[in-house]
Amino acid sequence: MLYLIIVILFLFNGYNDARKLLGTNIILRHGERTPSYLYSTTSNEPYFWPNGLGQLTVRGRLQHISLGQYIRERYSTLINSTYIASEITIRSSDYDRTLMSAYSNLVGLYPSSKNLQLPENFSLSNIWPETLPWQPIPVHTIPKHMDHLMTVGSCNRYEDLVDELRKSPRIQRLNNEFRNLFEYLEKHTNQSIADIFIAWDIADTVLIEAIYNVTPAWVTPPILRQLRQISDLCFYHLLCSSEINRLRGGPLLREILQNIENLILNNEQGRKVKIYFGHDMTISAVLAYLGINYVHQPPFASGLFFDLYQQDDNLYAIQIEYLNMTNSRDTHIMILPECFNAMCPLDTFIRLYKAKLPEDMDKECQSIKIQRTYPRIHHVSFSSN
Ligand SMILES: *[C@@H]1O[C@H](CO)[C@@H](O)[C@H](O)[C@H]1NC(C)=O
Ligand SMILES: *[C@@H]1O[C@H](CO)[C@@H](O)[C@H](O)[C@H]1NC(C)=O
Ligand SMILES: *[C@@H]1O[C@H](CO)[C@@H](O)[C@H](O)[C@H]1NC(C)=O
Ligand SMILES: *[C@@H]1O[C@H](CO)[C@@H](O)[C@H](O)[C@H]1NC(C)=O
Repeated sequence: MLYLIIVILFLFNGYNDARKLLGTNIILRHGERTPSYLYSTTSNEPYFWPNGLGQLTVRGRLQHISLGQYIRERYSTLINSTYIASEITIRSSDYDRTLMSAYSNLVGLYPSSKNLQLPENFSLSNIWPETLPWQPIPVHTIPKHMDHLMTVGSCNRYEDLVDELRKSPRIQRLNNEFRNLFEYLEKHTNQSIADIFIAWDIADTVLIEAIYNVTPAWVTPPILRQLRQISDLCFYHLLCSSEINRLRGGPLLREILQNIENLILNNEQGRKVKIYFGHDMTISAVLAYLGINYVHQPPFASGLFFDLYQQDDNLYAIQIEYLNMTNSRDTHIMILPECFNAMCPLDTFIRLYKAKLPEDMDKECQSIKIQRTYPRIHHVSFSSN
């Protein structure tokens, strides 16, 4: 028995020694937020949400400080504890909640001290005082309508595809399954529920109200369960269309592959760490593009890690891990369908995914704006997220 354990330990050590972590690309969801919109009969007034709609809550900030601490621990051997510009780049979507998540996360990732006291001679010094509990780290963003990485930007083609999907038998079947619930929701929200995606918008708000115990009386436990089910299903089925997940997840995966190439070539743009602050859909879309999405909503402050390794045979490999719970450090290795192994050789990864990546999104998104059949889904199109 002991012998067996020793052999296993030896094997694991051998395995670990045989690879070296070179860098990582991380996609994170913002922390807990307030609802993005209020349905017409929401019992609680907007002023219940102190900072307004779609904003990061205090808890959301703390979640990201903690997640930043986890990232610091996880990559302590990869990046210096002091910010070095050539090591890391931070990107966020242009939303208050993602930008604030980024800044909060960086407090955890680049801590210095709890003691906010400037040394008396600080004006003479060009070194960031260690006593400051914070180091300013730049966060890059671009306007929402142009942002195809973290959201889908302004994209007629995408809107058309979503409208087409909503007419498809797959979605009609789901609509039929929840027909009774839709009627119930119509009665209680005084709003027409055209399909599961409109119910999703209501679910999104109610699920957050539930955290704060401010759901209206009609949201009974079974109704809440069904709304959660609807939310989980929508994150899956919307992205089952390979054209949709290509437009939503493709650009970010292209960027990650580019980052990996820059790092391996050791060129000026190469960064050991890139962190992207986005949304639940940002994570779902990349999972779907990779063929590993499942029925769920990526929780607050969840994250997807693309760790790049160099193996002893000098080949590169990617390991994808998903931190799919809030306030957790329990990441799950995601096995890609055609890689069969936790470590996917980089050339296999490129062969599997590169060919169908979108290139020029302005071109891809071109489309004659068709007459839409369905009302807009609140948290899917760029103008409202
Ligand atoms: C981190 O950066 C500091 C300041 O540039 C340097 O003195 C130190 O050696 C670096 N540490 C590591 C582990 O690279
Ligand atoms: C500032 O003061 C500290 C402590 O008195 C000293 O160690 C340090 O060298 C000073 N720094 C500068 C830039 O004068
Ligand atoms: C909303 O309420 C008004 C007034 O009671 C009613 O006329 C309308 O049909 C309701 N709409 C829906 C979608 O239930
Ligand atoms: C997280 O991933 C693991 C492994 O794939 C799975 O068993 C678990 O149900 C997932 N949890 C959530 C909340 O998605």
